[in-house]
Amino acid sequence: MGYSTEKLSEEKVFKDPVHRYIHVRDRLIWDLIGTKEFQRLRRIKQLGTTYLTFHGAEHSRFNHSLGVYEIVRRIVDIAFEGRPEWNEEKRLLSLCAALLHDLGHGPFSHSFEKVFDLDHEDFTQAIILGDTEVNEVLSRVEQDFPKRVAEVIAKTSEDKLVVSLISSQIDADRMDYLQRDAYFTGVSYGHFDMERILRVMRPKEDQVVIKQSGMHAVEDYIMSRYQMYWQVYFHPVTRSAEVILTKILHRAKDLYQNNYSFKYNPLHFYSLFKDQLTLEDYLKLDEAVFLYYFQMWQEEEDQILRDLCTRFLNRNLFKYAEFDPAKEYKKLAELSALFVKAEIDPEYYLVVDSSSDLPYDFYRPGEEEERLPIHLLLKNGEVRELSRESEIVDAISGKRRTDHKLYYPADLLEKSPENPYVKQILALLI
Ligand code: NI
Repeated sequence: MGYSTEKLSEEKVFKDPVHRYIHVRDRLIWDLIGTKEFQRLRRIKQLGTTYLTFHGAEHSRFNHSLGVYEIVRRIVDIAFEGRPEWNEEKRLLSLCAALLHDLGHGPFSHSFEKVFDLDHEDFTQAIILGDTEVNEVLSRVEQDFPKRVAEVIAKTSEDKLVVSLISSQIDADRMDYLQRDAYFTGVSYGHFDMERILRVMRPKEDQVVIKQSGMHAVEDYIMSRYQMYWQVYFHPVTRSAEVILTKILHRAKDLYQNNYSFKYNPLHFYSLFKDQLTLEDYLKLDEAVFLYYFQMWQEEEDQILRDLCTRFLNRNLFKYAEFDPAKEYKKLAELSALFVKAEIDPEYYLVVDSSSDLPYDFYRPGEEEERLPIHLLLKNGEVRELSRESEIVDAISGKRRTDHKLYYPADLLEKSPENPYVKQILALLI
């Protein structure tokens, strides 16, 4: 018996608040969970700065990755088992890709990637293909197995059916994070009948389709996704914390490049600041490391770095105002000039942040954001795209919603109400 089919002598289970239990029978999956690169995900929160808005949202990418694995395991072991389109090789590929799909996420990914122009997907690939424990475990299956797993995650795999399980508009990734994030934030959105959806998923040629009888459960899933984006993921307070975090990293990088001498040397950041980041350095970064520096930088000479770190740690966030960049660009320029006169650096203290989401989209080949649509399997065997059958989904299909906010430190402005520039700023902001 080869490594790829080796089972544990006893099934292992993880207790999980969302799926109740996560079941592991395959030796390969158990070994992957034990690698140091996978364990690192325990130190990276799933929702970044959201815990500053919803205090329960402290769950990690480790929890989520196990959850995605469990959903795929249920689909393939329950709904797909024994079907002619399916086999053991696809099963293993799907389970590994599900477990490892977020492996490359860095600490507070959003802000981090933005400031240093990085992409967690590149790091996921690098970890799977590089000199790592994960690569060593995957290679035990077959020499080119790591590459095949990496291709599924990158969506370049020829096995479209497996790709659609891991990334489509109704994939295991989304089904896990919606429910998990709803659970940990405590909101009442984000719930839908996943059991029902899993029961009606079918492999059909090169994609996963949903039996027509499950259409209403899918509608519910799409609405819950829509609600979660606007109520949780794009919450303006979370974005305020993210703005501050982004500016901390930005400031630290700027200072370094201008030969500022740090009281607390940012050793972990050197290769990043120099644009010489190696995989080894990247894997040493986690949220505990970031928070350690933020703690230390509260005592730096640099007023801006000090202030931003203190704000982040004590949750003294920026206030926000609605902002329309198309109409209000003149106002922004005016505000920016007033900030300079009031001696508050607008580069760090006057920030426009935009969030945008497309709740569902039908197939638009060749477009930048090409997405795999959801297909229904009709009773007569025909396959139809969801928005052509569902009026609810049709109503929101292809409609992008964008929200812009202007962030500023209200407390700092209110400290000097007599300053004539501050007076003008406040008049413009209110
Ligand atoms: Ni994910």
